[in-house]
Amino acid sequence: MAVAGVPQLEYKSIRHQFVDGTRDFVAVDGIELSVRQGEFLCIIGPSGCGKSTLLNLAAGLIHPTQGTVLYRGSRVQGLNTDVGYVTQRDTLLPWRTAARNVSLPLEVQGVPRAEREERVEKVLELVGLTGRGNRYPSQLSGGMMKRAALAQILVYEPTTLLMDEPFGALDAQLRMGLQRELLDIWGRKGQTVLFVTHDLEEAILMGDRVVVFGTNPGRIIHVEDVQFERPRDLVRLRGDPRFTSTWERLWSLLAPQIKEKE
Ligand SMILES: Nc1ncnc2c1ncn2[C@@H]1O[C@H](COP(=O)(O)OP(=O)(O)OP(=O)(O)O)[C@@H](O)[C@H]1O
Ligand SMILES: [Mg+2]
Repeated sequence: MAVAGVPQLEYKSIRHQFVDGTRDFVAVDGIELSVRQGEFLCIIGPSGCGKSTLLNLAAGLIHPTQGTVLYRGSRVQGLNTDVGYVTQRDTLLPWRTAARNVSLPLEVQGVPRAEREERVEKVLELVGLTGRGNRYPSQLSGGMMKRAALAQILVYEPTTLLMDEPFGALDAQLRMGLQRELLDIWGRKGQTVLFVTHDLEEAILMGDRVVVFGTNPGRIIHVEDVQFERPRDLVRLRGDPRFTSTWERLWSLLAPQIKEKE
């Protein structure tokens, strides 16, 4: 359960280096960020600026060279099993049906079969995949695969969702549908969400805050409070002058970073 007053996730003076060939490469530096419980936080920045690194640190897949990552006030040491992680690469196993992919985390946890089946069915319904559970990944469309990947993390009801460009590579229409559904699920369940995207429009539409990253080294250059009321009408918001002015302002920060990288 949530601990009152304690941030869900804190990055304190984080620096992370990878060994790249023979030299150390600083992926991110000086990261100070506190994520509130129940917050929808979007992260945007040019390729290679450390967005996935930030999520990997939260999941405990890597540990910072310097600084501390706190999850609900405790240092992340081993794997952080409290989070659900939709990684940048697809994670569905091709030899399992959608339903059996979704059920996998429950099998790992030793949840009895009848309960598993019930929970899988419910979560498939939640993401709009009712009746598609018996299909294999190769028989699903791109959007359905993303839904199945989302179902796979929602099924064990993590309190924090880490999502790395979950809707990248989808056409605009599918993307809009999934954005709306994710906000809907989040509105009902109230998880803390860290959502990485390349798309500034998506970041502003979805987030309570947008964290803008710069490169060389990967660092936070701006944190924007997005105060549009909830629930949000994503279509209407796109045409709202407040949206346009936020987009323009953040783009003026982001564009030089992208140029610098190229
Ligand atoms: N295991 C690793 N070993 C060496 N360098 C790495 C490793 N993982 C990431 N890097 C480097 O660290 C930097 C940050 O990587 P990261 O994957 O976090 O970027 P990103 O912002 O997620 O990029 P993208 O938008 O392309 O997904 C990149 O320069 C990358 O090449
Ligand atoms: Mg990445």
